[in-house]
Amino acid sequence: MILAKTEILKVSKNAGTAEDIEKLKFASDVIKRGGLCVFPTETVYGLGADALNEKAVKSIYEAKGRPQNNPLIIHLSDKKEIEKYCLTEGACGLEKLTSLMPAPLTVILKAKDIVPKATTGGLDTVAFRIPANAVARKLIELSGTPVAAPSANISGKPSPTNAKDVIEDMDSKVDVIIDGGECEIGIESTIITLCENPPVLLRPGKISFETLTELLGEVHMSHAVLDSLKPGEKILSPGMAYKHYAPDKPVILLKGGTEKKINYVNEKNKSEKIAVICYESDREKINCKDTLCAGDGNNNEAYAAKLFSLLRSTDKLDADKVYAFLPKDTSGISLAIYNRLMRAAAFNVINLD
Ligand code: TXA
Ligand code: MG
Repeated sequence: MILAKTEILKVSKNAGTAEDIEKLKFASDVIKRGGLCVFPTETVYGLGADALNEKAVKSIYEAKGRPQNNPLIIHLSDKKEIEKYCLTEGACGLEKLTSLMPAPLTVILKAKDIVPKATTGGLDTVAFRIPANAVARKLIELSGTPVAAPSANISGKPSPTNAKDVIEDMDSKVDVIIDGGECEIGIESTIITLCENPPVLLRPGKISFETLTELLGEVHMSHAVLDSLKPGEKILSPGMAYKHYAPDKPVILLKGGTEKKINYVNEKNKSEKIAVICYESDREKINCKDTLCAGDGNNNEAYAAKLFSLLRSTDKLDADKVYAFLPKDTSGISLAIYNRLMRAAAFNVINLD
């Protein structure tokens, strides 16, 4: 590591000014020299290092406190980079998926030998993604190497979606933090593997299951998207085995009609110290002082965008537990919200219907 202290660099969203480029050059030099750099993407902030430098990759695991068998996504700046690191021959559906990129979409293919086992967590496959965020793509391009990057949180915590949350977890653990403002999607990329036939959705995100099915025909959804793993079950994505996205306080999920959820938390609030995460449109009917809101029942994109920062902020409240409202259904981005909340709550759901 080259750490003296963490440098925090503010850049504009489109990385469009000469000053932005100077700062990104500085950050890319850090990556080239084997250091750690946190950068914004359209999903969440990533904790980046040179994906081809085993030592640098190992320091990512250290900074996050992440188990070494949990592989990393390599971030590329351009489609023409894909075949340098992945075996693309016979990867059915790859062209259709790359037609969506740059995008909040990660694809898993067989890895070429150039990708160190430290990056793939020992697997013979590799996950890649081309982020849509201009700052991320410029940084990767200037670094001249694929950038391995998990979400920039301490392992197990909700992913950071703004610089303040990054600094809380990563200050003095990394060389540079690039502050590029709020991440607009707020939930990590969709992950699909083409190493299975038919392809399998491993992690839902903004690129929805419906979109993938429309594009590729048959796509299976890993049952681990919505359920906990069975003992001894074959794990397609090692990350699914770990508790995730959780604040320090217990999270309990509420499923059912809006009125029922509101009545339930108002009743609980009479005798317990609780916090509530719900939609903006529910706020005025809820009596609890620690009510945190985003979006409304019909705007789950806005709910997703704020979800992780709301979960994180509950740690600073004087509440003993957190009740979070689940979306009405699991279509579109709601499937991703379900998936993250289920893990944050360790599958503790109260069905009020
Ligand atoms: O939006 C995102 O994907 C963010 C930003 C920074 O790009 N990154 C991110 O990385 O969420 P991470 O490491 O927090 O989540 C990646 C997930 C992990 O659950 C890991 O197990 C899985 O992807 N994964 C990575 N490579 C894999 C592989 N070869 N096979 C199966 N699963 C893989
Ligand atoms: Mg993560």
